[in-house]
Amino acid sequence: MQNILFSDIINNMSKAEHNKTYYQKNKDKYKEKSKLSQEEWVEYTKQIWNIPIPNKGDLAFGEHSAIMPEEIVRRCVKLYTFVGDVVLDPFTGSGTTLKVAKELGRKYVGYEISKTYERVIKLKLK
Ligand SMILES: C[S@@+](CC[C@H](N)C(=O)[O-])C[C@H]1O[C@@H](n2cnc3c(N)ncnc32)[C@H](O)[C@@H]1O
Repeated sequence: MQNILFSDIINNMSKAEHNKTYYQKNKDKYKEKSKLSQEEWVEYTKQIWNIPIPNKGDLAFGEHSAIMPEEIVRRCVKLYTFVGDVVLDPFTGSGTTLKVAKELGRKYVGYEISKTYERVIKLKLK
């Protein structure tokens, strides 16, 4: 089987190169934009996260059997990356990680082996 690639940087390398230069020049601004609020920091660094599982509100509900709650991805992306960074998800599934990365101003690269999920991934990335 062949993987399907979803990315907002690959296939557009000249734009990616431009973004990289722009990012390097504006590093401090991006770092400032990436800061967590006091409330987020307190909540995200708790030992236990209480996050509901995805419901009918998720575009992939009933289409993928293991959808990740967006809030888990949101917290991880905010904790471990800066705005402008690249988030890689080699097991894209329904595309939750790529969707949240995009919403948070990060670039994304994702692979999914099953063509079944292509439609819903594209829907989440719209
Ligand atoms: C647990 S699901 C990911 C769910 C995803 N986090 C979401 O929120 O929808 C794992 C996915 O990895 C895919 N997968 C398994 N082996 C793979 C491989 N070698 N390359 C790419 N994708 C793979 C499966 O088809 C499945 O959709």
